[in-house]
Amino acid sequence: MDHAIQFDDVSVHYGGKTALRQITLAIPKKQIFGIIGPANSGKTTLLKCINRTLDFTPAARVSGKVVVAGRDVAGFRNVYELRRRVGMVFPLPVGLPLTIYENVAYAPRRAGIHDRAELEVLVEHCLHQAMLWDEVSDRLDMLGTRLSGGQQQRLTLARALSHRPEILCLDEFSIAIDPVTTMKIEDVLLELKEQMTIVLVTNLVQQARRLADRTAFLSAGTLIEEGETEKIFTQPVNRLTERYVNGEFG
Ligand SMILES: Nc1ncnc2c1ncn2[C@@H]1O[C@H](COP(=O)(O)OP(=O)(O)O)[C@@H](O)[C@H]1O
Ligand SMILES: [Mg+2]
Repeated sequence: MDHAIQFDDVSVHYGGKTALRQITLAIPKKQIFGIIGPANSGKTTLLKCINRTLDFTPAARVSGKVVVAGRDVAGFRNVYELRRRVGMVFPLPVGLPLTIYENVAYAPRRAGIHDRAELEVLVEHCLHQAMLWDEVSDRLDMLGTRLSGGQQQRLTLARALSHRPEILCLDEFSIAIDPVTTMKIEDVLLELKEQMTIVLVTNLVQQARRLADRTAFLSAGTLIEEGETEKIFTQPVNRLTERYVNGEFG
């Protein structure tokens, strides 16, 4: 099978500390792939390997290979090209000090789209995709940072989508938003997977169960188990996985 992302024996160390140990994992295309595990198990680090955000962390040492769409990520001479193809949504909305419109138009303009009508269509499309359009269509010139937390997180999602990524990674996206917004975004993700691969890191095991086609369980930097979500939840092979999905530890 043709995979969207492959990790081949990937380890990450921060100084003397091991954050990921020899991860080998293949993520299929156009599915939602869930990553669950307790705090500090290496989930965020795993995402950061995909679009090379770890380049920004001088203490981080990565070994092994990560392949995105058939290419070794280390081989991207233009890392921005890689980051255009891999969108990231972090736990807290990262508000750029820009208007709602400019938050979403920023990346397409940097990619060379300057036609005003074309940009408007694109901005509207991304805001629709993120289920935010109806709430902001009459105030696109307002600063994005003045929106509510849940709206800002959807604006962050619209901005990630404005790159037209092939892969969308979300890191505990619902940690700071209300349940209604969380459910809205969950619906969005189920629609988006028709078009792109979604990697969903979540601290809510039931969210992985609702959304993910396959799920991986990490503990202390080790990939304990990976498989079809239903199997991970009902017939896990590993006792630690079983205890975690049943909420016996956090
Ligand atoms: N920049 C960093 N410098 C040093 N240690 C880090 C850094 N980022 C993460 N770590 C450590 O790496 C381990 C994995 O962290 P992380 O990937 O953030 O886990 P998770 O997202 O599952 O909570 C943790 O022990 C954490 O303390
Ligand atoms: Mg994390």
